[in-house]
Amino acid sequence: MLNCSLIRLKVICSEQGSLTPIEGTRDIPFEIKRVYYIYGVPDDAVRGFHAHRRLHQVLICLHGSFKVECEFGDEREVYELNSPEYGLYVGPYVWRVMFDFKDDPIVLVLASDYYDESDYIRDYNLFREEVKKLFG
Ligand code: TYD
Repeated sequence: MLNCSLIRLKVICSEQGSLTPIEGTRDIPFEIKRVYYIYGVPDDAVRGFHAHRRLHQVLICLHGSFKVECEFGDEREVYELNSPEYGLYVGPYVWRVMFDFKDDPIVLVLASDYYDESDYIRDYNLFREEVKKLFG
């Protein structure tokens, strides 16, 4: 899907375990300005229900698993994240819903900019309107 894709991250393995380095603009398509993580999520939680106008993000499931439904234009796709070896890149104007959290997930999110509530679109109808205006 345009604006949403899985990135296979580097893994450096040794007998002592695995290490995944992530460098902004090298391993992911933007400079990292903010990092946050989501944890302590009840299994039946459903999060997200928003898109961003400018923000780029990569979601990485460090422990447990969850699913993300992404919508961009007329496309919809469900991604399952269950490995720290993959990141889900989510670009601007992707409506995302995170659900099916299992096994006490820890979700690391890398973001291209500081937190800015005005960059969020939290109303689905407004999201569809803006997408239609911008992308036809
Ligand atoms: P939100 O992005 O809506 O989380 P999710 O989509 O995972 O449900 O953020 C939840 C709340 O946290 C909201 O009140 C905004 C706040 N927040 C910050 O203050 N700083 C941040 O960097 C983020 C991501 C959220």
